[in-house]
Amino acid sequence: MERKIPEWLKNAVFYEIYPQSFLDTDGDGIGNINGITQKLDYIKGLGCTAIWINPCFESPFGDAGYDVSDYKKVAERYGTNEDLKNLFDEAHKRDMHILLDLVPGHTSVEHKWFKESLKAERNEFTDRYVWTDSIWCEPSGMGCIRGISDRDGSCAVNFFSHQPALNYGFYKPTESWQQSMDDEGPKATLEAMKDVMRFWLKMGCDGFRVDMAGSLVKHDEESKGTIRLWQNVREFLNEEFPDAAMVSEWGEPDKSIAGGFHMDFLLHFGPSHYNDLFRCEEPYFSSRGKGDISQFVEKYIENYEKSDKKGLICIPSGNHDMDRLARSIKGDELKVAFAFLLSMPGAPFIYYGDEIGMNYVENLTSVEGGYGRTGSRSPMQWDDTQNAGFSSAEKEKLYIPQDSSPDRPTVSDQMSDENSLYNFIKSMIDFRMKNPALQSCGEIEFKNIGYPLVFERTTEGQKITVVINPSADAKEIEVSAGKVVFTVCKGGSLDGNILKINGTSAVFIEN
Ligand code: GLC
Repeated sequence: MERKIPEWLKNAVFYEIYPQSFLDTDGDGIGNINGITQKLDYIKGLGCTAIWINPCFESPFGDAGYDVSDYKKVAERYGTNEDLKNLFDEAHKRDMHILLDLVPGHTSVEHKWFKESLKAERNEFTDRYVWTDSIWCEPSGMGCIRGISDRDGSCAVNFFSHQPALNYGFYKPTESWQQSMDDEGPKATLEAMKDVMRFWLKMGCDGFRVDMAGSLVKHDEESKGTIRLWQNVREFLNEEFPDAAMVSEWGEPDKSIAGGFHMDFLLHFGPSHYNDLFRCEEPYFSSRGKGDISQFVEKYIENYEKSDKKGLICIPSGNHDMDRLARSIKGDELKVAFAFLLSMPGAPFIYYGDEIGMNYVENLTSVEGGYGRTGSRSPMQWDDTQNAGFSSAEKEKLYIPQDSSPDRPTVSDQMSDENSLYNFIKSMIDFRMKNPALQSCGEIEFKNIGYPLVFERTTEGQKITVVINPSADAKEIEVSAGKVVFTVCKGGSLDGNILKINGTSAVFIEN
């Protein structure tokens, strides 16, 4: 099965936008599509070339939009389908690309498919979701919705209990109510999802971030069924939209890329040890210097070898589901973390606000199913005007309360401070863009795993040694000789083969 990495993706740097919280242009306290369009130049100015937008479709918002009730309609609070089309067009004018969020695993209970499937009489949508054949039989290990209609059965749920699981079949059905992937119901579900993809791709969208991509086929321990399902989607895309980019929320690149995705995220769940970097008791990127990056690197190499030249591994700065990066690391630690994120292979993803070190807002009441995630979803801080320039609504009407600390970071402050995190990230992206070895497809070889972390990035004609030292203690290490071409924070000095690197710093050497 052929799968080409679209040309534009080969050196893309992504920016993730949580549309609720980015920019409100109509004063209702919640962000919208036109707000994103208005800030395209800002995003491009930072150096990002592509955007992933969290679900912006019609929804009762029990899970912030991951509970879709109409896959083909922009939610009213964000604007219209025309606004979204306009965003695609404006992005393309700037040579930027937009990924939408596809949620194929479940819908909202409000979706018309689900309402039809609740009916006792058989109809087109009877098999659209995973149903047992009796109200007294619960789908094991999945949680369910039962007793809310005349249909005699229980419907499996995927995440929250208001998110019924769409039916893509069971890898090996063992009960009479379980369907196989090749049964008519599961096949129709997959076709319906392709139809959704086709709808947005035709309108100008450049691809999808796919929610819970690894969990579609049920009782599929080794993911063989789910891989086969995505290969089917890959064939459809190859035929109709070969330039559409596909990135999965899977957390296991070897499986996702075998399924025909171009890229997969390393995440706060799954086997990648991503949490060891920034989000655990002793993160590797803390200046305490007590973290351990070895299991992360071990897993990374395994994934890299399995996906090398076939796909990209994405290491995000954060996302709408995890704590803000700035909850556990601060100041120069953040710069060193970004030096790492922006010099690894694959496509970097910057979560909105992480470029200015936005804080996790503590002690918030859950908003729209956010629970502990709510603190990472607060409105963007643009400047020192009302609501930090996010919205002209009254403060109480904002989607989520903003960080109220007097020294909260803002884009305008950071743009005018040459030592800010924002300006560092901007220059780091620029450095990556000018040096092929540091880009998505350059090779990587780890040379020292600990403090400092040393790895070499190579491409035809260029080799760069990257030395990253989050620890507050200076270190001395042998590296390949060359010329220091970029330094982060206090940098270091190179004498022949010996690099003395200062605490909480990074050094890039061209060999
Ligand atoms: C994914 C999303 C998350 C959502 C869940 C259910 O993990 O990132 O925000 O709640 O799927 O759709």
